[in-house]
Amino acid sequence: MRVLLFTGKGGVGKTTVASATALKTASLGYKTLIISTDPAHSLSDAFQMELNPFPTKVRENLYAMEVNVEYELEKHWSVIKEYLEAFFRSQGIDDVVAEELAIFPGFDEMASLLHLLEYHEKRSYDVTILDCAPTGETLRLLSVPEVAKWYMNRFFGIEKKLLRIVKPIAEPLVNVPLPSEEVMNKIQELYVKFGKLKEILESEETTVRIVMNPEKMVIKESERAFTYLNLFGYHVDCVIVNKIFPKDVGEYLSNWIEIQNRYVEEIKQRFPLPMFKLHFRDREVVGEELESVANEIYGERDPTEIFYRHRPMEIKKVDGYSVLSINVPFIEKKDLKMLKRGEELIIIARNWKRIVFLPQSLALKDVVRAEFKGERLNVYFA
Ligand SMILES: Nc1ncnc2c1ncn2[C@@H]1O[C@H](COP(=O)(O)OP(=O)(O)OP(=O)(O)O)[C@@H](O)[C@H]1O
Ligand SMILES: [Mg+2]
Repeated sequence: MRVLLFTGKGGVGKTTVASATALKTASLGYKTLIISTDPAHSLSDAFQMELNPFPTKVRENLYAMEVNVEYELEKHWSVIKEYLEAFFRSQGIDDVVAEELAIFPGFDEMASLLHLLEYHEKRSYDVTILDCAPTGETLRLLSVPEVAKWYMNRFFGIEKKLLRIVKPIAEPLVNVPLPSEEVMNKIQELYVKFGKLKEILESEETTVRIVMNPEKMVIKESERAFTYLNLFGYHVDCVIVNKIFPKDVGEYLSNWIEIQNRYVEEIKQRFPLPMFKLHFRDREVVGEELESVANEIYGERDPTEIFYRHRPMEIKKVDGYSVLSINVPFIEKKDLKMLKRGEELIIIARNWKRIVFLPQSLALKDVVRAEFKGERLNVYFA
């Protein structure tokens, strides 16, 4: 099953691009499911019909659903939540605060991921498209499988068997409620699911597409997202630049066209990926208008194609160093200049320039050495 995730800053056109892509893959004959993971659902607006928390047929080959967070929370988390509340209360934490703390961080997004897993296992669809919440939340969502594992290990890293023996003796002594078998089972179940999810998300068949507008703030936030997606091991295969003004838009916006051109060039330097473009339309992009959007973006190409297969960036630990490995094809070592400026690493070779936004863990370190290996530049930080 091919999985496509669309993310980007708020309002850039994620829902528009995701739903247009879904229409296109459906019309190409792929059985497609589009899931909105954003609590502020707008998929129903795009398709101009009521949607449900389960797949609803939109047209031939196309199904859409909007996840209902409260329902999912009840289904997967209530048993654990009750225990956590009791635990926090036993620590002298106020009732209301305990309730808040017991809500799993990022659960709303996680619920949609659990659906992805379900349909993946049933092999119900050829393509699943996720219309994600704005970048920040998506990053949190994509780190959920990892974070959840950590969280559960720390919190519940107690052997079930041991627990069964210890609970009746220990509980009155330590004055802390210990999780029941039901709670442990539920945790075990979620734990296994996260593991499987991570496999799907990191596999070749899943790619992330970043939707952007040619604007400073949007680029900045997307860059951050791009770096962290790479860091978490997710595969970004293109960027889609939306809301580009057409050339003949008139005098009033002519200055904007120049500004946009500049930013499109900047996006090329900062995102070494295939770029697709979409013009600003003269009306809201919903319903029928959506049909032509995917054609403008992808042209003759099949949206399920993997547009970029390299890992543009990887961060590894080698001999105690943090090593940033960047794909730099066509570049010769003697032409290369490198400069670290705060959170940015600037790499220049003749008339080619690449700016890498560094994650916090690297921004705080110094570059100590660099090496070429094949088409990759490895930069050592300490
Ligand atoms: N190319 C375009 N031309 C004209 N209007 C557009 C274009 N792309 C998106 N829009 C409009 O911009 C608005 C925001 O688009 P959309 O809902 O797709 O963004 P989003 O990134 O999903 O937003 P959110 O972060 O709120 O989920 C919508 O009203 C949509 O119709
Ligand atoms: Mg949206």
